[in-house]
Amino acid sequence: MESKVKTAVVGCGMISNIYIKNLKNLFHIIDLVAVGDVNHAAAEEKAKTYGIGRVMMIDEIAASEDIELVINLTPAFVHHDVIKRMLLAGKHVWTEKTMTVTVEDARELVELADRKGLYLGVAPDTVLGAGLQTARRALDTDLIGTVSSGLAVINRNQSLNAEVYTFLRGNGGSLPYDVGVYYIAALLSLLGPVKSVHAFGTPAKQHVPEFLYKNAETSPWQIPGSNVMSASLQFASGALVSVLFDGNTVNAEQHALALFGSRGILKLGDPNGFNGSVSLIYAGQPECTLPFSHGYDGMNTVEATPFDFYGHRGIGVAEMAWAIRKGRPNRCSKEYGLHCLEVLAGMEESAATGSTVEISSRFEMKPLAPGYYSGFGGGRGDAERSLMD
Ligand SMILES: NC(=O)c1ccc[n+]([C@@H]2O[C@H](COP(=O)([O-])OP(=O)(O)OC[C@H]3O[C@@H](n4cnc5c(N)ncnc54)[C@H](O)[C@@H]3O)[C@@H](O)[C@H]2O)c1
Repeated sequence: MESKVKTAVVGCGMISNIYIKNLKNLFHIIDLVAVGDVNHAAAEEKAKTYGIGRVMMIDEIAASEDIELVINLTPAFVHHDVIKRMLLAGKHVWTEKTMTVTVEDARELVELADRKGLYLGVAPDTVLGAGLQTARRALDTDLIGTVSSGLAVINRNQSLNAEVYTFLRGNGGSLPYDVGVYYIAALLSLLGPVKSVHAFGTPAKQHVPEFLYKNAETSPWQIPGSNVMSASLQFASGALVSVLFDGNTVNAEQHALALFGSRGILKLGDPNGFNGSVSLIYAGQPECTLPFSHGYDGMNTVEATPFDFYGHRGIGVAEMAWAIRKGRPNRCSKEYGLHCLEVLAGMEESAATGSTVEISSRFEMKPLAPGYYSGFGGGRGDAERSLMD
């Protein structure tokens, strides 16, 4: 059996809870040995809560001899700094989305990782979950024929959310970057690369604080970039997909994700989770929900916590750790992360210039092997075997 990959988490905020819990409990291949944060107290707290042996300064993690893999869970606008520092220190890196907030920065990191021969994996890893892998299998086994078009819709009140999650007020906090990325990632995992985009955008509202908590701020702010985006994506496969991301409305999500094919239609659930349902629609037949063909359905059965809603976040890290040991490419690769970002930035550029933007980067993502399940054996099942090859 391959040796475990010694791993550290950098950034001990909200999302680190589910990462740490999953990485400690679900995967043979990961040995989570350390946590670090610029806010040392936050790292101390996670180490105590989850029983992690070492709390380290960021420099100490970079300089450590034994840590091979660093998981970056900091806000998007500091990703470039943290990732670059860890790559330069010779560490493999997994980062939360988006890889960076500019395409130029992401390209620099891709080149750096290539030069150093290091892995750089990028969220969303929801694309490796049961819902989207089942959808991928439906496409790969030709259940709906050739996909000619699709639809992706998500809405929120992003300015109100930014009142609570203050990092959303910075670059990378607009609805397309923060949440739309899950829809783009899902489409990429199912249809492959995008060839060109054309979009219209509207900025976020100037947000006047609404909450009256102690220490509430009083001065207004505005999330940077387009917070409403209406776009057309032309995939290299020829499929045309209509995208609507609206962060200027209410927090009552009306998500939609569908692919229309020459023989049938696939209707998908929320791609921001691991268990989005997959419905098959044929003409003249009742709609039919497909059973999941893969594990990692987001149902976390190891000691319930308030963060279980975030499902199986961390499978992308485990899949990358297996890739490191087996010497093969990882699925949520740096090329996939760069392409996600280039599509989002392409929409922004098209909205600003009125021109169609060509997307130059390319990536490949192999599906996971079907037939493994994670719903028994205390939440582990045999699903980790599907991450090995
Ligand atoms: N909150 C969510 O629902 C959610 C879901 C999925 C993914 N994400 C992504 O995960 C990342 C973190 O989100 P979060 O909600 O945990 O944010 P958070 O603000 O709760 O936590 C971020 C942590 O990073 C630390 N940090 C900031 N700069 C740092 C630096 N230079 N070096 C080390 N630590 C640093 C902060 O002190 C903080 O503890 C973001 O990229 C976000 O997009 C968040």
